[in-house]
Formats: sequence, structure tokens, C-alpha cells
Amino acid sequence: MRVQQTIETQIMKMKLATAFSCMIYVLSSCYYDKEELLYGIEKCDTVNVKYSVQIVNTLTANCLSCHGGDASAGAGIRLGTYDEVKAQAVSGTLLNVISHNPGFSQMPKGGAKLPNCRIEEIRAWIQNGTPNN
Ligand code: HEC
Repeated sequence: MRVQQTIETQIMKMKLATAFSCMIYVLSSCYYDKEELLYGIEKCDTVNVKYSVQIVNTLTANCLSCHGGDASAGAGIRLGTYDEVKAQAVSGTLLNVISHNPGFSQMPKGGAKLPNCRIEEIRAWIQNGTPNN
């Protein structure tokens, strides 16, 4: 009887320990998720931004359906070449429309705002003097 009880107690302890580890695991994964949300901008690499990589990728994926080709769906505003993008960037319009700043059209038109990191990459590229790199 004694032995039986001791074994049951041991099993109970093991079950508790397992449940406890699971709880810690779940809690810690939640913690990291939140950390990524909170510090998303800090984790964004704005140091190695290149026109030919991040900027072209973002514009191609989100903007050129309207602002490429004849740009008829984009009110004739074209973002298909470096010079066209540079013109919108230097005037400040590009950053204002993607940041959804008051008084500006919100781009992508009819779509969700770009993720913060995509906006920060464009901001960094403009701050670097819009290099054609
Ligand atoms: C569904 C089509 C569509 C998409 C996608 C789109 N645009 Fe536009 N864009 C327009 C239209 C139409 C206009 C004309 C102004 C308006 O209607 O608000 C415009 C205007 C602009 C302007 C000029 C704003 C001004 O006040 O001079 C810029 C710059 C611009 N878009 C950039 C972008 C960028 C950057 C993206 C991608 C992140 C994008 N657009 C995605 C349709 C689009």
C-alpha cells in the first residue's frame, strides 16, 4: 500500500511538472510574439537598403499594377523607373502617400497600408539621398 501510494505521488508530481513546463513554454512563446510586434521596427534592417532590391521589390509587389506600364489605373503617375520613383521621393509625396499622412492620397489605393518595415526602408533610402544602387 505504501509503495503504491508513493508511486502514485511520483506519477502525480511528474504530471504536474510536465503541465508546468508546457505552461512555461506557451507563455514564453507568447512573450516572444509580443516582443516581435513591439520591436518590429528595431528588427527591420534599414542599413543595407538598396534601390534595386528593397525599393523595387516593394513597388513591384504593391504599386506597379497601377503605376507601371501606361499607369492608366494610377492617374498617369509612373513608378516604373528610377527617375520616376526619384521624382516622387524627392518631392516628399512618396513617403507621405505610403505613410497615410493627412492631406495625401493613401497608397496603395484601396489596399492595406504597407508593413512598417517596408515604409522604414523607403524612408531610409530617401534619407540616404535616393541612391541608384
Ligand atoms: C489600385 C491602383 C493603385 C495602386 C495599387 C497604387 N496606386 Fe498610387 N495612385 C492611384 C491613383 C488612382 C492615384 C491618383 C490620386 C488618387 O486617386 O488618390 C494615385 C496617386 C499616387 C501618387 C501621387 C499622389 C499625389 O498626391 O500626387 C503617388 C506618389 C502614388 N500614387 C504612389 C503609390 C505607391 C507608392 C503605391 C504602392 C505602395 C501605389 N501608389 C499604389 C492608384 C494606385
